[in-house]
Amino acid sequence: MKFEIRQTSLDQATRAQQEALLVLWPKASHATGMLADWIQKAQRQGDFKDTAGSVLQSYGMAGIKARHLVVAACDKGDAKDIRKAVRAACAVLKSAPIQSLHIQWAGDELSEQAIKALLSELADASYVFTSTLSKPQPRKLQQVMLGLTLVTATHRTALGQAQALVRGTELAKEWANRPSNHATPRHLAQAAKALGKHPGIQCKVLGPREVERLGMGSFLSVARGAAEPLRFIVLEYKSRQTKEAPVVLVGKGITFDTGGISMKPAAEMDEMKFDMSGAASVLGVFEALAHLQPDIHVVGLIPATENMPDGQAIKPGDVVTSMSGQTIEILNTDAEGRLVLCDALTYAERFKPRAVIDIATLTGACVIALGAVRSGLFTANDELATALSRAGDISGDLCWRMPLDEEYAEGLKSRFADVANVAGRAAGSVTAAKFLERFAAKFPWAHLDIAGTAWRSGAVKGATGRPVGLLLEYLLNLEQPQPKVRRKSNKT
Ligand code: BES
Ligand code: MN
Ligand code: ZN
Repeated sequence: MKFEIRQTSLDQATRAQQEALLVLWPKASHATGMLADWIQKAQRQGDFKDTAGSVLQSYGMAGIKARHLVVAACDKGDAKDIRKAVRAACAVLKSAPIQSLHIQWAGDELSEQAIKALLSELADASYVFTSTLSKPQPRKLQQVMLGLTLVTATHRTALGQAQALVRGTELAKEWANRPSNHATPRHLAQAAKALGKHPGIQCKVLGPREVERLGMGSFLSVARGAAEPLRFIVLEYKSRQTKEAPVVLVGKGITFDTGGISMKPAAEMDEMKFDMSGAASVLGVFEALAHLQPDIHVVGLIPATENMPDGQAIKPGDVVTSMSGQTIEILNTDAEGRLVLCDALTYAERFKPRAVIDIATLTGACVIALGAVRSGLFTANDELATALSRAGDISGDLCWRMPLDEEYAEGLKSRFADVANVAGRAAGSVTAAKFLERFAAKFPWAHLDIAGTAWRSGAVKGATGRPVGLLLEYLLNLEQPQPKVRRKSNKT
């Protein structure tokens, strides 16, 4: 999809060349002209409300060049209102085969965040997965023109960021959506290698022998039952100027989770192809970084394997030794995410990171706790908590901080190893985080449990691309605060 931005008024937008015209109408619009009069008339009669998501539609209207006209109310015009308005408008236009769309903002100011929200919502609504269809019907919408009465440099920057965000989110969706036989650990490694072709990005892929040499006994134990060979993917993005320690992103890459010997029930097991959504989000972030080339340093780690039952598979009660040296009693082979992540966290130590964030579809318990609205955020570091929560709020890719009190670790005690891989059913997402925390003592660490937010179920089944928006917002904010000025003043 191609996004452009142009300086136009609502009155000029009536002559827009595109097949459809979408007018985003805030409560405080000062727009004038025949179209504005028409909208205000509908408002006076009570047929069009200020409430975000209220729509007014017309076809082949006299005086309007575009065949389709949709006006969507967006109340105060903030990012959240814009999202609602765009979603409602897309629902109305859904069945029409529109390739080009002019979106006219009928208000005065439009924030950077609103622009990102607008374009990412539009991309989400028009996304189609085609990779495994014999007669793919690609996305119809190809061209989007955003009309603003005054275009500034800030708007252009926001447009560039929105474009990168959409690319990253769609790469994450693509990989998460692919069925497990089309998204094996080797396939993920290829995708990472392809990202390594971009300037500033390097990619290294380790196989079973190298992982064994590193002593990743926990990661290896999950892969034992799988015929597909594991991969450990290391991505690094580094701008030419940066001297900063990296932020390390660790993405859970279970390309299919059967549960192993502690096997899952059959119902909805297909959804466990999404169990590499954390890994997909890391790939998505790197895709976005490749296009934005910001002045930051980011490492991506992906432990990728299937979790399968087999004669070779680990069994409940088995004890393995992690890369950290800690022994783990595997009481449930379905709690495999933490087993692959813990070794990746230990591996992260070598980067002397400023922060490590792991992203994982880790627990069904998190779905129960927070549903599909907010990802679970776990960290003992208040600074990271604030930064990530803010990034979530700003991007609309929300998360919620969960507790990490020491008492929650009680159930992980084992008589046969340093730690067990599961506790009881209570507070399952917290005990999983407490397990991970043991392996993250050497750096500021946060964990995002995206089990409820990474994909939608039912008729609209599919990956959401979350939390690429949150992560990208967090990372791009690292770039701004310390321009060269500060370093100079330190020297004097
Ligand atoms: N991948 C699952 C978590 C999951 C389950 C995500 C359902 C989304 C929907 C994870 O590997 C898992 O199986 N976790 C277990 C942990 C339990 C055995 C302690 C779970 O949540 O049931
Ligand atoms: Mn599992
Ligand atoms: Zn899993």
